[in-house]
Amino acid sequence: MSDLHRRYESYLRLDRILNAQLPPDKDMKDRPLAHHDEMLFIVVHQAYELWFKQLLHEVGLARDLLGADLVPETNIPRVCKSLRRVHEIEKVMIAQLAVLETMSPGDFLAFRDELGNASGFQSAQFRELEILAGLPDEKRYAYQGQSFERRFPEKTVARFRALRAQPNLREVLSQWMERTPIEDGWIEAYLASFDKYVDEQILLQDQNDELSEKERAGTRQRFEAYRGSCREFLSGDGAAAHAACLFVTAHRHLPLLHWPNRLLDSLLEFEELWRMWRFRHARMVERMIGLRMGTGGSSGVEYLDATAGDRYRIFTPILRARSYLLPPRLLPKLSDPDRYGFAIE
Ligand code: HEM
Repeated sequence: MSDLHRRYESYLRLDRILNAQLPPDKDMKDRPLAHHDEMLFIVVHQAYELWFKQLLHEVGLARDLLGADLVPETNIPRVCKSLRRVHEIEKVMIAQLAVLETMSPGDFLAFRDELGNASGFQSAQFRELEILAGLPDEKRYAYQGQSFERRFPEKTVARFRALRAQPNLREVLSQWMERTPIEDGWIEAYLASFDKYVDEQILLQDQNDELSEKERAGTRQRFEAYRGSCREFLSGDGAAAHAACLFVTAHRHLPLLHWPNRLLDSLLEFEELWRMWRFRHARMVERMIGLRMGTGGSSGVEYLDATAGDRYRIFTPILRARSYLLPPRLLPKLSDPDRYGFAIE
């Protein structure tokens, strides 16, 4: 008897999970499924919510480890390990949409009215993931002119508030990056090399006979703007963290910078796969309901495509650093590369 809790079905709480596939009626009593495919619809959404839960667990760990006052070097591989798991889950999430696409649009319509205004838009865990990762509220599209929070009960809004009061992954990354020891004079040396690089590129385009004089002038102008944006990146708001992103990316072969560089790459991959899910979900939605409005009341596919765009990017500095990365021949030489060697206890 005492070992009952160690049995497969009780350990996994299957009694709870497998008895939660009938939707509630207006009295919150189980109602029979309205269509054979309604089961698929429910199971797929529940599976996503479980994955969201695991993602919150992993991204939360990454945020905690990176947000410590002192981050031991050995913790960076641990953060990367969690993010690697996040990537694999995201890939499953993308692939899983195909399961739902085995349902035809007509079969979905047969029970769509039963959803009322229920929509993935009301997934609290999805919003928590966005907040934990660091999507700034001001970047969100106002939903019917209102904050997305209007769609959630007060108890859930309080959870969002509590999460917002804590540092998010984007912020702790930035604070951690700011502490990267960069050799004195490196930024100035980098900018001098960058000037040389831009001059070379302008010269190359000036020699391109396929361009008209007007096109050449336009290209020159764009390169000058590029030169200016790199200077701004390394001197404006967040300059210390930006410089660190560039430094780590540029000198990634040095042992001490290897894991930080992998971490930056892992964060980009996390974001890239998240955006791919958004895009893929929008494609599934257009196949399923065409261009009609969503059950949550948004414009539907148009809204979803907008959320997959640039505005919802989170780790922009990592990406910007890549725009200013120089070819190896132009990288400034470090005066003491051994400083970035293996740390020997
Ligand atoms: C037949 C299947 C589906 C259709 C037709 C559909 C349609 C939509 C539409 C139209 C929206 C925009 C909001 C609205 O007006 O309702 C939306 C949002 C959303 N859906 Fe789906 N969806 C489907 C399946 C799923 C699944 C399986 C998930 C997984 C959890 C999901 C998660 C979400 C999320 C998280 C949002 C909010 C996106 C944002 O605001 O950034 N959807 N969905």
